[in-house]
Amino acid sequence: MTENIVHIIYLIASVTFVIGLKMLSGPKTARNGNLLAAFGMTLAIIATIVFHKGEVSGLVYGLIFGAIGLGTIVGWLTAKRVQMTKMPELVSLFNGMGGACAALIGLLEFEHNIGNATSIAVILTGMVIGSVSFSGSMIAWAKLNGKLRKAIRLPYYNILNTIILVGLVVYAIYITSSGTHSETHLYALFAAALVYGVLFVIPIGGADMPVVISLLNSFTGLAAAFGGFLYGNQVMLTGGILVGSAGTLLTFVMCNAMNRPLHNVIFGAFGGGGEAQAGAGVDGNITEVSPSDLAVQMNYSSKVIIVPGYGLAVAQAQHVVNELEQLLESRGVEVSYAIHPVAGRMPGHMNVLLAESNVEYEKLKEMEDVNPEFTQTDVVLVVGANDVVNPAAKTDPSSPIYGMPILEVENAKSIVVNKRSMNAGYAGIQNALFFNDKTNMLFGDAKKVLTELVSELKNMD
Ligand code: TAP
Repeated sequence: MTENIVHIIYLIASVTFVIGLKMLSGPKTARNGNLLAAFGMTLAIIATIVFHKGEVSGLVYGLIFGAIGLGTIVGWLTAKRVQMTKMPELVSLFNGMGGACAALIGLLEFEHNIGNATSIAVILTGMVIGSVSFSGSMIAWAKLNGKLRKAIRLPYYNILNTIILVGLVVYAIYITSSGTHSETHLYALFAAALVYGVLFVIPIGGADMPVVISLLNSFTGLAAAFGGFLYGNQVMLTGGILVGSAGTLLTFVMCNAMNRPLHNVIFGAFGGGGEAQAGAGVDGNITEVSPSDLAVQMNYSSKVIIVPGYGLAVAQAQHVVNELEQLLESRGVEVSYAIHPVAGRMPGHMNVLLAESNVEYEKLKEMEDVNPEFTQTDVVLVVGANDVVNPAAKTDPSSPIYGMPILEVENAKSIVVNKRSMNAGYAGIQNALFFNDKTNMLFGDAKKVLTELVSELKNMD
C-alpha cells in the first residue's frame, strides 16, 4: 500500500518537473514553472523520508533534517544575496554540489553491492561522472569569477587527458569485473576522476567556457540518473534524465553558437592556441562620441539595434536601456535587441536580464535573424559587449575565438560602442571593431552614460 502511495507521489513529482521545465522556456511562465518543479521536489523528498522502508534510527532522522535545514538556510541566503553578475558562478557551484552528491552515493553504496556486477557498474559510472562534474565545476567556478583567468595547458594536455579518460574507463571495468572488495581501488578511481575533472576544464580558455559549463551540467544530471537507477527511485531517475538531456541539448546549442565540434571538447583539443599573440596587431585611431551627440544621431535614425553584453549586467543598466528603447520608439524609431547566444556569462543571461526590466520578448532577436538586418540599421549601440562583436572571429585564425559566429555589427551605417576603457573582454583579446572608421566609442559605466543619453533625449523635446 505505502509503496503504491510513494509511486503515485513520485509520478506527480515527475510530472511537475516536466511541466515546470516546459514553463521555464517562456519569460512569463518561468517563475511559476520554477515554483512548480520545486514543489514537486519537496513532495518527493517528504515522500521518500516518510515512506522509507526499513528501520531508521532517531539519530539518522536528526541528521537528515539537520542537513536539510542547514542546506535550506545556506541555499536560501546565497540565492537571495547573489548579485545578477555572480549568478553564473553560483550556478556552477550548485552544479558541482550535485555532482559531489552523486559521487558520494557511489562511495557509500559500493560496499553494499559487492558481488552484484550490474550495480557496481552503475555505481562506478555515476561516481566517475559525478566526480568529474564536481571538480570540473569548481574550476569553472574559479574561471567565471576571475580567480583563474588564464587557460593552463600542460604539455600534450590533450593526449594526457585522453589517456586518463581511457584509463578511468578501463579501471572501472577492472573493478567491476574482478568483483574486488578493495575500497582502495574505489578511492583511487574517485581520486583519478577528480583529477580528470580538473585537467579537463583547466586548459579551456578564451570564449569557450559556455560549452563546458553546459556539458558539466549534463554530467551532473547523468550522474544523478545513475543514482536513481541504482535505488530504483523513479523521481531521481526522471530528474536526472531531464537535467542530463536538457544539459546535452544546451551543449549542442552552445557548440553550434561557438562553432566547435563536441569531440574537441571531450578530448581536450579545445580553445585553439595563441591567446597571447591574438589581437596583438590591432591598433589605430579611435573616435569618441558624447551622449548629447549620440542623442541627436539616434533621434534622427529610423532603425536602431541595441547589442547587450556582459558589461550591461555588470552595470545593471537593463532598466535604463528599456527606458531608452521606449523613448526612441515614442519618436518613431524602430528599436530591437540583438542577442548573441553566449553574450554574458551564462546561457540566456541577456534574455533574463532584459526580461527583468520588462523588455518585450518579441524585441529580442537571435543572431541568425538579426545579422541580415544590420545593413539597414542606422545606429548599432553595443552596450558592454566585446567578444560577441569581435570581427577577429572571422578574420584572424590565430584568435582563440576564431570560427565563433558573431553579431555582424560592422555592417551597420554607424556603430557606437559603450564600455569603460579599451580593456579586453572575457577572451582577453583586443577588438578591431573599436578602430573601425564607422565606430564611435562612448566611454563610461553603461548605467551612467545611458542615463545621460536618456536625459539628453528628453531635453530634445
Ligand atoms: P565580454 O567579451 O566579456 O565583454 C564585456 C565588456 O563589458 C568588457 O570588454 C568590459 O570593458 C565591458 N564592461 C564591463 N563593465 C562595464 C560597465 N559597468 N559598463 C560598460 N561596459 C562594461 O562580454 P560579451 O561580449 O557579452 O561576451 C561574453 C564572453 O563571455 C564570451 O567570450 C563568452 O564565450 C564568455 N562566456 C560566456 C558564457 C555564457 S554561457 N554566456 C559563459 C562563460 C564565458 P571595460 O572593462 O572596458 O568596461
